[in-house]
This record gives sequence, C-alpha cells and structure tokens, in this order.
Amino acid sequence: NAVATAPSSWSTGTQSDRRSKIGIVGAGAVGSSLAYFCQIRGIAREIAIYDVAGDKVRAEAADLSHGAMFSPSTVVTGSDDVSILNGSDIVVITAGAKQKPGQPRLELAGANVDILRALTPKLLEAAPDAIYVLVTNPCDVLTSVFRELSGLPKERVMSSGTVLDTSRLRLRLAEEAGVSPTSVHAMIVGEHGDTEFPLWSIANIGTVPLVDWRGENGELAFPQEVREKIADEVMHAAYSVIAGKGATNYAIGMAGGSICQAILADHHAVMPVSTILDDYQGISGVALSVPSVVGRAGVLQQLPVPMSDGEIQQLKNSAEALKSSLNSLGF
Ligand code: LAC
Repeated sequence: NAVATAPSSWSTGTQSDRRSKIGIVGAGAVGSSLAYFCQIRGIAREIAIYDVAGDKVRAEAADLSHGAMFSPSTVVTGSDDVSILNGSDIVVITAGAKQKPGQPRLELAGANVDILRALTPKLLEAAPDAIYVLVTNPCDVLTSVFRELSGLPKERVMSSGTVLDTSRLRLRLAEEAGVSPTSVHAMIVGEHGDTEFPLWSIANIGTVPLVDWRGENGELAFPQEVREKIADEVMHAAYSVIAGKGATNYAIGMAGGSICQAILADHHAVMPVSTILDDYQGISGVALSVPSVVGRAGVLQQLPVPMSDGEIQQLKNSAEALKSSLNSLGF
C-alpha cells in the first residue's frame, strides 16, 4: 500500500520538541495565562518566567507548578533574575503598560518602548538564539523596535499581531453560520489595533466562499452590512472586555501559546503573526500581520495572498498608522 508521507519540510507531529524551553517576560495576567496554556498543553519541557517583581513571579511559578499532577510534565520556574531565561528557545515578551478603558493600543508605545529598550540587552545576553514573540502592545510597533534594537534576523522577531483578532472573527462568523469556529477560514490582517480589517475576499466556511453562505432560510447570511458589523465588533472586542474586567488575558495567552506550539512543533502553520514586511503589496519597513507560515525557524514565509484594491488600501492605512507611531518615537 502506498504510505502517505509528509513532505520532509514540515512536521506531522503535534508534540513539541520535549527538550524545549519557553521564556516569558512578565508575570502579569497575560504572561501567567500564556504560561498556564503552555503547561496544560505540554508545549515545552520548561517554562521560565522573568519579572522584576520577585515575590510575584516566584508565586506565579509555584502556583503553576502545583498543578504538576494534572498537566504534562513541565518544569515551571520564576525569578527576578533575567538569567532564568538562559537558553530559551522562544522568549515571549508580555511585560509593559496595558490599555486603560477606551485607550487605543498605540498610546502605549512610548512607555513600552522605553521598557523594551532597557530589556533588550539583558534578553540578548540570556537568550541570543531564541525566537522572540512580542505580545506587549502596541505589538506591531514593538516588533519593529525590537527588530532594530536587537539586530536579530527578521524571521526570529514576530508579534502575536492579529492572531487573537482572527480567533474573535472566526468565533463571530461561526456563531452566525452555526458551524464550528475550526471550520471557518477567515483572517484579520494589518495592525493589531484600530486599523485592522478582515480579508473578506478569501474568507470561506468549509469550502463555501463566505459571501455565498446561506442561512437556514436560504438568504445570504453575510451581506455587506453584516460583514461590517462583525468587523466592528471584532475590532472593539478588547475594548469591551477591558471595560468589564480591566484587561484581556486568557485569549491572548492562548494566542501566544499557540504561536509557541507552532514554532516548537515545527507545524508550518499559517497564522497572521506580525513581522517586518519587505515589499509586501508595496509595503516595506513596518511590522504588520499578514498570513504567514510559522515553524521552528520562526516566520518561514509571508504568503502573497490575493487582495482586493480596497484591502490593499486598508493594509496601507495600517502601515501609515504604525509608521507614524514609529516616527514619533524616533524609529
Ligand atoms: C487584545 C489585546 C491583547 O486584543 O491587545 O485583547
């Protein structure tokens, strides 16, 4: 019998390399949620959390470790000494000021760039060979800044970008269509922020183009006004959660953990992570989320997806918003 074998270029396993180490900067709600997700999924052999608040980070690590009997074997450590990140395969940066209710993410740029400037030399000393995932906002701006400050190859510097927004979009579309979110293939791209937008032109449910999907009544389920309403809900989702509980943490922790899993398991997963663009639809020199292949070496490829003229313009709008923020910071 012919035995199907996966191309040698990507792994068929779902298990990460079990000797791997994930370093997390920041033991706040996001960093702790990401550590928790990675632990219960068994994504890495070791999770090391660094935070300047020594008591807090040691307590978070202890609390996670106490779940040892209920999760795949994972060594979880915490310290206010950055050397705990030594030898990490991936470093996820979650530390920094967070959005206040109603506050756009770009307003955090000044404070969080200063934190990143102070952190970068220490991180490169501890984990010079790591792949870096920026979660702290504004994550696209910080991706550009960290890439410049670190000098690391661009494939090793990414942010969670619109991975979380894409999950929010798939959830809403699935709710409307009455299908599983895993059967919805749609993506939010651009800035992880107020200029993000869905790639409606390539969205589909199962094998049905989204714009052709019909509800039980036989009517088209996603006319333009419905698509616009859903896009707005997704873009404002974080604002409404922050208004209610002060921050978002669980879903962004899962998004960051899923990126770590795609890297360590060499999944070659297509995810809208944010990395520096190089003549992508004519855009260069700024980090934006576009459909990208993520594997053990980081961002392996940014896919040249077909976009409508309107979508190309929206992507350029995102780029302008981010370049304006970078310029105001001197980058
Ligand atoms: C959010 C934060 C992570 O979208 O920006 O929930």
